Amino acid sequence: MRRGRHLDCRSRLRSRSAVTASSGRDESAGRVGEGAAGQTDSLRDFLAAVDLFLATAPEAVAGVTDLAGLEQARIEFLGARSGQLKSIQKLLSGLVAADRAAAGRQFNEAKTEVTSLFAAAQERLAGGNDAISRPAADAIDVTVPGDPVLLGHIHPITQTIRQVQEIMARLGFESVDGPEVEDQWHNFEALAIPTAHPARDPLDNFYLAVARGADPLLLRSQTSTVQIRVMENRRPPLRIVSLGRVYRPDTADATHYPMFHQVEGLLIEHGTTMAHLKSVLRQLASSFLGGDVRVRFRPSFFPFTEPSVEFDMEWGGRWIEMGGAGMVDPAVLAAVGYDPDEVSGFAFGLGVERIAARRYGVADIRDFYRNDVRFLRQF
Ligand code: DAH
Repeated sequence: MRRGRHLDCRSRLRSRSAVTASSGRDESAGRVGEGAAGQTDSLRDFLAAVDLFLATAPEAVAGVTDLAGLEQARIEFLGARSGQLKSIQKLLSGLVAADRAAAGRQFNEAKTEVTSLFAAAQERLAGGNDAISRPAADAIDVTVPGDPVLLGHIHPITQTIRQVQEIMARLGFESVDGPEVEDQWHNFEALAIPTAHPARDPLDNFYLAVARGADPLLLRSQTSTVQIRVMENRRPPLRIVSLGRVYRPDTADATHYPMFHQVEGLLIEHGTTMAHLKSVLRQLASSFLGGDVRVRFRPSFFPFTEPSVEFDMEWGGRWIEMGGAGMVDPAVLAAVGYDPDEVSGFAFGLGVERIAARRYGVADIRDFYRNDVRFLRQF
């Protein structure tokens, strides 16, 4: 069928070229004596080349047995540099203008025909290889479980932070944040830690090389700074909790790290007592650790609370030291513009790593920061 169509086309072309040759309108026909004979020859060469191309390509394609052989044949017939089709194209461009349109169509038809011949052979040979290398469809066991997709999860320290925030929220404490780069006022002075206090020693703090005017800046050494920032901007009653990073130049060991997290709680309400403080800490401990956890106070000292205590929780039959607390010192209330005769409140602070380590039975807090997924995956 195809071949027949091709011959039709070619005969149309022949008759047209004959008309052109005799009309004498073509450019090359202007060259006396040469015109008609030259056209006929080049046209004949062109048609013969197309014929040969169409006749030999199917045989060549049928003869190849693998993809490498097919590629070799493709280069021979369709290769862009020196394939047969390229030679035919050269003959096409040597034709007189009147013949070129019809010859061009014939050229395109031949090209399409042989190209699809190669495409079909390519599919056949590639499919054959596939069939050899791939197991039959029914050899695949669709009941074998797939590879599990590994999902990350929240870091245990962040989990602890969110849990404490959630427990405190139930007691009416709002979560607030403060900056990690602090000034002398918020980290020390407003908290009644005067200039000569050893807590301000450069060896015990990360002072920054930049300062705000004459005021040296530092990475905050405690989250008590947030108490000041909140009280400066709001009026009582207040119930806030702030959880965040603090920095101290400690040598890293099983219980110390130069960066760690603290929970800071502050309640300012009329008529607050140490009993309220103890109730809140007991609620926090019981909700966080589970069961009814007892809390005890030991007398202590912090510049910003009076009286001050350290508080322990009973855990696994032992008393574990958890943090510091106390009634907010009147000097602190005055520093933020509150009237110490009118308002009172309590504050407490504890280490997030410490309570997370207790709860999860982690012996070395450095494990929280090693980023070893075998460790982190357990939480
Ligand atoms: N800021 C103290 C520290 O870094 C902890 C602390 C003690 C916070 C007593 C408080 C407090 O709010 O009342 O060790």
